[in-house]
Amino acid sequence: MTADTPDTPILSVRALTKTYGARIGCEDISLDVWPGEVLAIVGESGSGKTTLLNCISARLPRSSGEVLYRMRDGETRDLDDLSEAERRFLARTDWGFVHQNPADGLRMRVSAGANVGERLMAVGERHYGQIRETATDWLGRVEIASDRIDDQPVAFSGGMRQRLQIARNLVTRPRLVFMDEPTGGLDVSVQARLLDLLRQLVADLGLAVVIVTHDLAVARLLSQRMIVMKDGHVIESGLTDRVLDDPQHAYTQLLVASIPES
Ligand SMILES: Nc1ncnc2c1ncn2[C@@H]1O[C@H](COP(=O)(O)OP(=O)(O)O)[C@@H](O)[C@H]1O
Ligand SMILES: [Mg+2]
Repeated sequence: MTADTPDTPILSVRALTKTYGARIGCEDISLDVWPGEVLAIVGESGSGKTTLLNCISARLPRSSGEVLYRMRDGETRDLDDLSEAERRFLARTDWGFVHQNPADGLRMRVSAGANVGERLMAVGERHYGQIRETATDWLGRVEIASDRIDDQPVAFSGGMRQRLQIARNLVTRPRLVFMDEPTGGLDVSVQARLLDLLRQLVADLGLAVVIVTHDLAVARLLSQRMIVMKDGHVIESGLTDRVLDDPQHAYTQLLVASIPES
C-alpha cells in the first residue's frame, strides 16, 4: 500500500526555472500537489505550461530550482538526484503521463490489450491470463468494447485512442498523473464525454493529477486548484472556483471573460 498522507504534498516545486538559451520557458515557479487533488495549469499558448509540466515530470531537465517527490516509502527525493533507472521505474509505476496526441503515449501497432498489459508487465505481473483479464476490465472502464482488445489503436477513432491511453496509464494505479491537454485534439462532443470519464476515474482512484489546459471549462470541471500562467510566470493561483468566479489579476479576468457562453 502507499503511504499517502493527506497532510504532506506528493510533489513540491520550488523556484523552478527553465530557459531555452536566452528564451524563458518558465521562471521561478513554486507549487505543491497534494495527494488526491487535481491541479490545473492554465494559460494561453506559449505561456510555459508544457515546459513546466515536462520539468516537473522529469521529462525535461530544468535550469534551476527543486522538484521534490514523495516516494511510496515516504522518503522525499529531488528528481534530479534519482538515477536514470529510478526515474524510468517511477514513470512506469508511480506516475502516468497522458499526452494530447494519443500516438505519443501508445504503441500504435500493438493491440489495445497489449498496450494496457505492457504496463502491468512493467510492474512485475507475469501471469498471461491475469494480465488479459485486467486489460479487459480496464478497456471496459474506459468504454472500449471487449471485442476490440486485439485491434491496434491505428484502427481506433481519436476518442477511443485517448481512452486507451488513459487505461494504459491508470492500470498500474499510479499515485500521480500528468496530463497535457488530454482533450485538446478531440471534437467537442467527444471531449465532453471524455472529461466526464476522466473526472469519474480520478475520483474513483483518488488520483493526484497535474493537468495542463488552455480551456478554463476543463479546469473548472476537473480541478480543485489552479495556477494561471502568462509569459512563463504564475500570475494567479488558488481554488479553482475562487479564481474563476472572482479572478484578481487583470489577465485572469480577461481569460475568464473570454470563455464562450454555454
Ligand atoms: N524546445 C524549445 N526550444 C526553444 N523554445 C521553446 C521550446 N519549447 C518551448 N519553447 C518556448 O518556451 C515558451 C513556453 O512554451 P510552452 O511551454 O510550449 O508553452 P505552452 O505549453 O503554454 O504553449 C514559449 O516561448 C516557447 O516558444
Ligand atoms: Mg503546451
